[in-house]
Amino acid sequence: MKLSARVQKISESITLKLNAKAVDLAAQGKKVYNLTAGQLPFRPMNSFVDLIRSESDFIKSFQYSPVAGYPELKKKIIDNFQETRGVNLSNAGEGTEFDVVVSNGGKHCLTNIFGALLDHGDEVIMFSPYWVSYPEMVKFCGANPVIVETSPFDVFIPSLEEFERKITDKTKIVVVNSPNNPTGTHYRDDWMQAFADIMVKYPEITIISDEIYYQLYYYDPKPTYFYQHRPELLERTVIVDGISKTLASTGLRIGYTIAPKTLAKAINTLQGQTTSGANSLVQRALTQFDFNQIPVFLEPIKKHLRANAEILGEALSDHKLGHVWYQPTSAFYYLIDFSQTPVIEKYKAKEEKEDYSYDICEELLEEYGIAMVPGVAFGSPNTARLSLVSEKEPFKEAIDIIMKFLLETDSNS
Ligand SMILES: Cc1ncc(COP(=O)(O)O)c(C=O)c1O
Repeated sequence: MKLSARVQKISESITLKLNAKAVDLAAQGKKVYNLTAGQLPFRPMNSFVDLIRSESDFIKSFQYSPVAGYPELKKKIIDNFQETRGVNLSNAGEGTEFDVVVSNGGKHCLTNIFGALLDHGDEVIMFSPYWVSYPEMVKFCGANPVIVETSPFDVFIPSLEEFERKITDKTKIVVVNSPNNPTGTHYRDDWMQAFADIMVKYPEITIISDEIYYQLYYYDPKPTYFYQHRPELLERTVIVDGISKTLASTGLRIGYTIAPKTLAKAINTLQGQTTSGANSLVQRALTQFDFNQIPVFLEPIKKHLRANAEILGEALSDHKLGHVWYQPTSAFYYLIDFSQTPVIEKYKAKEEKEDYSYDICEELLEEYGIAMVPGVAFGSPNTARLSLVSEKEPFKEAIDIIMKFLLETDSNS
């Protein structure tokens, strides 16, 4: 069978291979510290679960929803967006109206948006480290990802001069993801302001703001956005959000896109001919749900993330690796930089190459039972993403093992 050229352009997930190995090792009875989690390992609050349960009494909950979602839910999403971000969508430029499309998770929102906007040869600018799926989604649409690289030495903050240099007449979209997966930080307000000032000069470019971790910040100040500085940018901004991360509900598959009406209509058509409306039962429960309960639900979780981040920071400092530390503030990740630690020399001595993150993560898993995601998956060589969601004691044990590993050299290993 001949596969399409488009699908063959998509890279295989390198993390799947390591995850499969982690599962294998655990099945063999080996102790595995799995620090790969991209989700909160908690049950959502009872009030939400009870709503799903009670909605399941109705026939309608099992039938097709309108393609773009129930109108009551869409209204709620717009209201909640305006309230939490402090913006008024009616200020978004003359005649621009907005609409919401509810889809099967944030991932589906993004594939819809790229599918509705991109043509062959278009360019999409993204900042590394980027979320793994952006480049692959873009390639699937026949377009080209253009990466603005950052460095651990700059705490992964993208240079806006470099960004502006990468803009060409083919640039169709720029993707901003704050709070960020995999760094676990959000861009500072002055960065957002400067980014907004640049974007007003390029009226042809659409901005995707992936805000799926918006409420998950555990250090002030809270995340801010470019459109808060320049509301006129809203007329070409597309917001992605959802319940996967902040309501600990990755499996329920609900995400939403807030977009200017022309784009929302195109996405509606695309979604109507491909997947139809999202999970009706959960949409109906969300229609009744009080979104203001989310920050309350997240409060103890944020405390937990803060505590684990502190454990990591102290461990790095105790092992004289304080130079590797930066303060994570949001989402639930930390991107650890191997390039500034002694262990990298051991790998360099064996073989000269640009990235050792896969080799390092493989050894950490096979020899020490630590599973992390190699940074190369996020366009960040010689780093690895670790998740801060684990329970405190196993997290401490895992960090202790990682610290010893980072200090390994050929002579002491
Ligand atoms: C930055 C980012 N955007 C979007 C998504 C997709 O979320 P969902 O699980 O709702 O598809 C993820 C999930 O990991 C993510 O990290």
